[in-house]
Amino acid sequence: MAILLPDGLATPALVVDPDVLESNIERMAEASRAQGFVLRPHAKAHKCAQIGDLQLRAGARGLSVATIGEAEAFARVGVDDLFIAYPVWLDADKAQRLRRLADRIALRVGVESIEGAQRLGNAVHGSARPVEVLVEVDSGSRRTGVQPHMAGEVGKAAADAGLLVAGVFTFPGHGYGHDARAREHAARDEERTLGQAAQVLRDLGLDVRVVSGGSTPTAGQWQPGAVNELRPGVYVFNDATQLAIGTCGVEDLALVAASTVISVPAPDRFVLDVGSKALGSDRSPWVTGHGYLPQFPQGSITGLWEHHAVVRLPEGVRGPRLGSVVAVVPNHICTPVNLADELLVVRDRKVIDRWQVTARGANT
Ligand SMILES: Cc1ncc(COP(=O)(O)O)c(C=O)c1O
Repeated sequence: MAILLPDGLATPALVVDPDVLESNIERMAEASRAQGFVLRPHAKAHKCAQIGDLQLRAGARGLSVATIGEAEAFARVGVDDLFIAYPVWLDADKAQRLRRLADRIALRVGVESIEGAQRLGNAVHGSARPVEVLVEVDSGSRRTGVQPHMAGEVGKAAADAGLLVAGVFTFPGHGYGHDARAREHAARDEERTLGQAAQVLRDLGLDVRVVSGGSTPTAGQWQPGAVNELRPGVYVFNDATQLAIGTCGVEDLALVAASTVISVPAPDRFVLDVGSKALGSDRSPWVTGHGYLPQFPQGSITGLWEHHAVVRLPEGVRGPRLGSVVAVVPNHICTPVNLADELLVVRDRKVIDRWQVTARGANT
């Protein structure tokens, strides 16, 4: 674990190792470049202007976001090419906000229903810049997205609504799994379903330029050919889930929640001042507790309250002293970042910068 925590931190606090962060960003950028993929990282994982800037400077072609609010936040700090990788459902207020964005930046939006496409077309009709859409395809996550053969109906509705149909996208959530083959299979599913959907749109005469896939687990699994754009997000920091499924090593963890030992009620147990209000409560089937403890890898966070994390240690393992600061790697990084005001950038046990979480809470 690279991050050495400074003394005297007000905890809980999210602490970033800038060297690991930059090396994660550079590695993904280099791998994408080498294979000829456009990289459009998902910024919901960090929500932070400085990190988006590092990604863009490393070669990313714009950013992906999940909400109109995140797009507004990144547009405010100067990012002018954004993909809302989500099938937005527009009410009157969201329609107005989206229209304002479409007048300012290069905007791309996900669609996966005829009605959704029509609402979007109405909202951005006559905008200063044409809004591109990508039709969302279900490649196996069983979340949103149409089956590939249905992509034509949605694409046609979008084109009829005056939108520029630029291609297709998917999120291979089923690539999350203990078995490395899950990642490989998910990547093949992406290539197959996106390829089929792209062909359906091409057969309608639509100019399919963007075939966008990707997640952190399927990173490195794609074969050049069908997919031409990637949207991994979590890779910037990694987290306890990525560690558990084997997509990163301990040396690739770039963010921890610094927390203070507030109680040592028994030799095999200690309690930290970090809870679900700082860590989030995501717990995938692959992790063993509510976070990973680099200093106590045999320990497990067995109980999580709003402001307490109870750590159990195996017999014979010595725990930390009362008042000491302990690092916790969150299970899923996207939630704690959304709960924090700022990220503390720490090098050599010193806070060298504080980065605001630019799109904190921008969930609508
Ligand atoms: C649509 C979409 N694209 C890309 C990503 C990024 O994938 P990951 O979180 O595995 O990095 C996500 C994550 O949820 C997503 O929902």
